[in-house]
Amino acid sequence: MSDIIILSGSPSRKSRSLLAAAYAGELVKQQGFTADVISITDFKPEDLVYARFDSPAIVVAGKTIENAKALIIASPVYKASYTGVLKALLDVLPQGIFTNKPVLPIMTGGSPAHLLAIDYALKPLIANLKGESLQGVYICDQHILKDNPTEPIAEEDTAARLKAQTNHLIEAIRRNDTVSLVK
Ligand SMILES: Cc1cc2nc3c(=O)[nH]c(=O)nc-3n(C[C@H](O)[C@H](O)[C@H](O)COP(=O)(O)O)c2cc1C
Repeated sequence: MSDIIILSGSPSRKSRSLLAAAYAGELVKQQGFTADVISITDFKPEDLVYARFDSPAIVVAGKTIENAKALIIASPVYKASYTGVLKALLDVLPQGIFTNKPVLPIMTGGSPAHLLAIDYALKPLIANLKGESLQGVYICDQHILKDNPTEPIAEEDTAARLKAQTNHLIEAIRRNDTVSLVK
């Protein structure tokens, strides 16, 4: 079981949004946490299309997320929102699965036109699952270096925002850990 789950909603083999989220995951690992990826591409399409709540892969993913301390959710913008297939996965996970978990939303898009998709689309979905959204980071394709996984963010301000948001995620996990110790 991992402390942090990176949930990737991209169907793309060489995904920009996953690259950015994996980079954030590396920063989190440098602080002593464990991180793992669950991608929508890990599932059989029929499990998602037919909403197979009882599919072993879906059940295991649900338990893995329930046991995590925090999430990073990454999605490309598709038609001004998160991907339909990310929603198809979240639809078959248990109600309130993000309860008490800080969630860092990351979205990538072809242009800045849909940067508010984090606020009007992804954050309400995270709230519905009872997660605690951080501000999040929107990254334009032109600022992602697909062939540089160790430093994939080409633009200084965006890289700084991603690092700052990742630090906020780490702080939130530590706060929750302290609260659990006190209880
Ligand atoms: C079907 C489809 C729809 C898209 N719709 C949008 C859109 O509405 N707005 C936008 O900025 N980019 C849009 N894009 C571009 C992707 O969001 C962008 O390239 C993203 O970084 C891809 O992420 P990925 O590599 O993780 O899949 C779309 C791409 C595809 C394939």
